[in-house]
Amino acid sequence: MRGKNIIIGICGGIAAYKIPQLVRLLKKRGANVRVALTDGGTRFVSELALATVSGEPVYRKIFPPMDTENMDYTRHITLGEWADALVIAPATANTLAKLTAGLCDDMLSVIFITLRPAKPVLIFPAMDGQMFLSPSVQRNIATLAAQGCTIINPESGELASGLCGLGRMPEPEAILASLEEVLHTTENISPLSGKSVVVTAGPTREKIDGVRFISNYSSGKMGFAVARAAAKRGALVTLITGPVHLDTPPGVKRIDVESAAEMHDAAQKFFRSCSIFIGAAAVADYRPAAPCEGKIKKDAQEMELSLVRNPDILAEFSLQKSSGQLAIGFALEMESDIDNARKKLETKKLDLIAFNFFDHKTAGFEVDTNILTLIENQGTTTELPQLTKESAAERLLDAIEQRCTRT
Ligand code: C5P
Repeated sequence: MRGKNIIIGICGGIAAYKIPQLVRLLKKRGANVRVALTDGGTRFVSELALATVSGEPVYRKIFPPMDTENMDYTRHITLGEWADALVIAPATANTLAKLTAGLCDDMLSVIFITLRPAKPVLIFPAMDGQMFLSPSVQRNIATLAAQGCTIINPESGELASGLCGLGRMPEPEAILASLEEVLHTTENISPLSGKSVVVTAGPTREKIDGVRFISNYSSGKMGFAVARAAAKRGALVTLITGPVHLDTPPGVKRIDVESAAEMHDAAQKFFRSCSIFIGAAAVADYRPAAPCEGKIKKDAQEMELSLVRNPDILAEFSLQKSSGQLAIGFALEMESDIDNARKKLETKKLDLIAFNFFDHKTAGFEVDTNILTLIENQGTTTELPQLTKESAAERLLDAIEQRCTRT
């Protein structure tokens, strides 16, 4: 905490009375603390108490009184630039709605907007349990979380209303511990932070006629988990996906495509600019040579479908990539076919391939878990145990991070 600049935003909830104690704890650890108090907050905790423990004026109004000497007319911007972290505790339903909407009518809401990107914001909602669980509060919390804020849910216990239940703000010691943890994580910045990562995911559909297609059972879960994990590490992620029933992970730019040709066109635009290309899509290897416009009639007893090869998107990227770019692929094979995965690593000239066998229960398409073996072109092979696709994606990204720091 030593030397860290922390702004604490206090809203009008009864838990505000605990914040001078938090300020003292932070000061004791060597942090510089400034306090932004909403109008509601002034009803629960005194400005004088906060100014005394922080050793700084308390910030409330955007428009400063004009009678003070050495007035700082741009403090609505400079405070957001000054802060290493913003802690909003207690956060009321009203302030959550304001922050979600982007309103700026007091110092706290304007600091929230002007805070430098990537600086952590910790929000501690504290209110009556029914209020907290209301659809509007939950929607606003979800929006703020998707924007990258860390939301620490209230605890259960005695409430000011005399009721017992969900809604209590954590104690100042617990708030301090959460802040320390978040600062620690953001300071250990991932080598993927700010890097452009393209992930392909899901199946492709290859048109036979206007109503029929060839496809496969890929659910897109693995690719989406990879995109989510990369975005969490600060990468600028573009997810090019075939038709799937999955929500876009927070902070990820999604491009929906249908056929391998469309996926190829979308991916090609990033071949030069991306740092890392991760091919997790189950791209159809072949497409009908001459798809019909209408609907093929079932007049004949037999029919032949002529297929032509689709472009290999990942191999194409890999063959033209520069030395600073990484190409990562997946190889879905039968359990015994790990050598095939090694061959693909070589022929496609990849930096790493995730060998992924399918048994339909613990690994492969549609299921929520996977068993990956990470094979690197520099010789190392890491067998992962059965993991959720989310955890498997994290482990794959750990390996990619290591590659980034080595190259
Ligand atoms: O050759 P195979 O299809 O098994 O290779 C698998 C890897 O290549 C996967 O990473 C997949 O996303 C990628 N791929 C591709 N374009 C294709 C076929 C596969 O990008 N047409």
